[in-house]
This record gives sequence, C-alpha cells and structure tokens, in this order.
Amino acid sequence: MSNTNSRGFTSNLGAILAAAGGAVGLGNIWRFPYMLGQNGGGAFLLVYILFVLMIGIPLMMTEFIIGRRSQRNVVGAYKTLGGKQKGWVLLGIFGIVAAFLIYAFYSVVAGWTLNYLVMSCRGQLAGLPPEEVANVFSTFTQGSFWPLFFQLIFLVMTGLVITMGVQKGIEKVGKILMPVLFLLLILMCVRSLTLSGSHQGMSFLFKPDFSKLTGQSILSALGQSFFSLSIGMGAMVTYGSYIRKEDRLFKTSIWIALCDLLVAVLAGIVIFPAVFAFGMDPASGPELVYVVLPNVFNNMPAGTLFAVIFFLLLAIAALTSTISLLEIIVAFGVEELHWKRSTASLVGTILVFVVGVFCTLSFGPLKDVKIFDRTIFEFFDLITASYLMPIGALLMTIFLGWCYPKVEVKDELSNNGTLKVRAFELYYIILRYIAPLALIAIIISGIVG
Ligand code: PHE
Repeated sequence: MSNTNSRGFTSNLGAILAAAGGAVGLGNIWRFPYMLGQNGGGAFLLVYILFVLMIGIPLMMTEFIIGRRSQRNVVGAYKTLGGKQKGWVLLGIFGIVAAFLIYAFYSVVAGWTLNYLVMSCRGQLAGLPPEEVANVFSTFTQGSFWPLFFQLIFLVMTGLVITMGVQKGIEKVGKILMPVLFLLLILMCVRSLTLSGSHQGMSFLFKPDFSKLTGQSILSALGQSFFSLSIGMGAMVTYGSYIRKEDRLFKTSIWIALCDLLVAVLAGIVIFPAVFAFGMDPASGPELVYVVLPNVFNNMPAGTLFAVIFFLLLAIAALTSTISLLEIIVAFGVEELHWKRSTASLVGTILVFVVGVFCTLSFGPLKDVKIFDRTIFEFFDLITASYLMPIGALLMTIFLGWCYPKVEVKDELSNNGTLKVRAFELYYIILRYIAPLALIAIIISGIVG
C-alpha cells in the first residue's frame, strides 16, 4: 500500500531527506564543533560516533516504530499504543512541551544565522579586526529589535512551510535543501583543506588523545548525539507516522543517522583546519561559529564569498530543523484538537514566539534574570538537551521495551513479517537494557553534576 495520496511522505528518499533535514541542524554545525573543541577533539569524536551507532540508531528506530505503528502525532501515538495504560499519554504531552522549549531557544540562534547571512552579503564583517568582530556579535545579540526581528522571520518562514503540508511543504523543502546543504558543505571543506596549515586542525579532529577524555565529556558526547539526532521528544515519532508502510525502518534510520553524522564530521573538517590555520582558539565555546569563524573568513582569499556560503548553509540546516519542531506541535493540533493546519501553524508560531522573546532578550535586557544561576536561554538549552530529551528517551524505551508486546514491535519492524530483520534480537536487547541503563547514567550524572 502506498501513501501517495494520504497523509505521509510519498517516497522513501523523501522520508529520508525530510527526517535527515530535521536531524541535521544547528546541532551539527554550531553545537557539535564547539562541544568537540571544548572536549578535547578526536577522542570526543570517536565516543560520539560510538553513541550514534550503538544507541542513537536503535532509538531512532524506536521512535519510527511508535509513529508508524500508531499513524499518529506524538500524543495520539501514546494514546493509541498505550491502550488501557492511559498514563503514557503524559509522555506524548511531555514531547509537545519539550518541542516548545527547544523551538523557543533554537529559533534565537536560527535568527542569528539570518543576521550573519545578511551581514556577510553586505560585506559588513569583511576586514574588521578581531575585537570588532567580537563587538559586532555582542552588540547584536544584546540588542532587542534586530534579534527579535530575525527570530520572527525565521518562525514565519517555518510556519509557512508547515502550512503547506507534509508532502508539499516538509518533504519538498527537504528534497531541495538537503542536497544544496551537502553541496555547500563540500565546497567549504575543499576551501578549508586547501589552506596552508590545515593539517593541524585535521589531527585535532581525527587523532584521538584519550587522556583528554573525562566522564563529563563522555556524557556530553551522549547528550550531543541525542540532540543532534532529535531523539527523545517526539520529532521522529511524528515523522515516523509519515513513513510509508512498505519502507524499511531499519535502513531508513541508518541512512538518516549516517547523514547526520557525516554532516557533523564535515562541519568539523570545515571549521578546525581553518581555525588552526589562522591560530584561533578551538575551545572558545558557543561563539566559535559567530566570533571565531568571521575572523577566519577575513583572513582567507575570497573570504566574503565563503562567509556567505557558510551562513547560508547554517540557515538552511536550521530551517529544516525548525520545520520538524513546529510539525510536532502542529500534527498534535490537527489530529487531537481538530484544528486546521494553518490555524495550528499560526497558534503554534505565536505561542513559541511569546516564549522565544524571553530567550532572545536574555542576552540583553533580561540578562540578569537567572534561573538556577543560568540565563533563560542557557536554562532552556540545559533542561531540554540534558534532561528532557534523555528522560523522554528513557521513558520511551521503557514503554516500547517493557510495556508493549514484543511481537508487535517485531511486526512493525519487519513490515508485518514480510522482511527478515536479522538484527532484531540485538535491537531488542539495546531497547530493553543497554539504552535505558546508559540513559539512567547520563541523567544521574547530570543531576549530581
Ligand atoms: N537535531 C536538531 C539539530 O541538530 C535539533 C533538534 C532537536 C530538532 C530536537 C528537532 C528536535 O540541530
């Protein structure tokens, strides 16, 4: 049975590109490089790859199984599959709340990409000395009007795509933008690798020095893999409900996770050789992309052009991810509250903006408002990536591994028994034991600090 005329994606490639678009985002190009820079380089990369393969892929499959089995949004999915165990609906609501919080702070950084894109197109960063580049960043982010303006533009663009629907909006945008993203990324890699002195950055990225690995950096790698693969809050449950019944969930998840991993590694290849070639600090944190890279561009031939390409790339990556965030909320509004898609997009966007304003202003006028010693933005980032997503993922593994019949899981993964899934037992062990234990470890160590 094909979904061509129904609610879901029209092809397997469309599903892979749309979901890879949701996974590939600021998490890969902004967050991953600075986390790697702060956590010692190559060893972090290795641990990260291990987590993606061992835990990330099985958990993505788990979300797809829940979504496709139920054919519903994240709340509807737990309502349907939970049956008499009504409490599981709360896990769906938890996903919607997490999507709101992530979208609220994520759209701030997404807005920055637009500002930097406009500035690089106008050559406003070209030739500035390093202190000035840093100044531009702090003046911009501490302001009110422009950061809010760009955040709103981003929210509106996302809302428009979502209003166009799953096939004409999400799938189409994924099919067009993901190949463009890869192309731009490869172009940037070539540029970075042909800089003299690039080898130092390559060894930083690929030569593991295990003495730099700490317990905390291992846990950061696990958290980063969740954030990057969008696992633990229902994004992949929602997209899973759009995957055709004849597509292979095993293969689909592997492709998406590998795409996500590849983009993160390529982003590393773009950033570190350049950072080292110009003697910059790889451990400068969240500002790496916005403060360090413009200096790098200023030092390279045709730097303005590459700055434009880079920030365009970042904006595209962010857009396909904000689309997946809003879709979680809109699918819920349409299917559970019976709203029109356009109404749900509008209401979702307005609500996120109301909360997002506080995240944006927490860099400027509200920077002294602290929650547990963190600004509003930092607090949202922390509770979602470090707590809500791992807790959501943990509860999800308990649901599918312990409270839902094994035969049904196997049935969904094997397309009603028509496929041979040789790795099923391995998957099931990871689902029941390995993933929950690893998750409990991160959550506890996060709480203990
Ligand atoms: N995975 C996205 C990224 O790497 C972030 C994201 C998280 C998107 C959760 C949707 C849901 O940027």
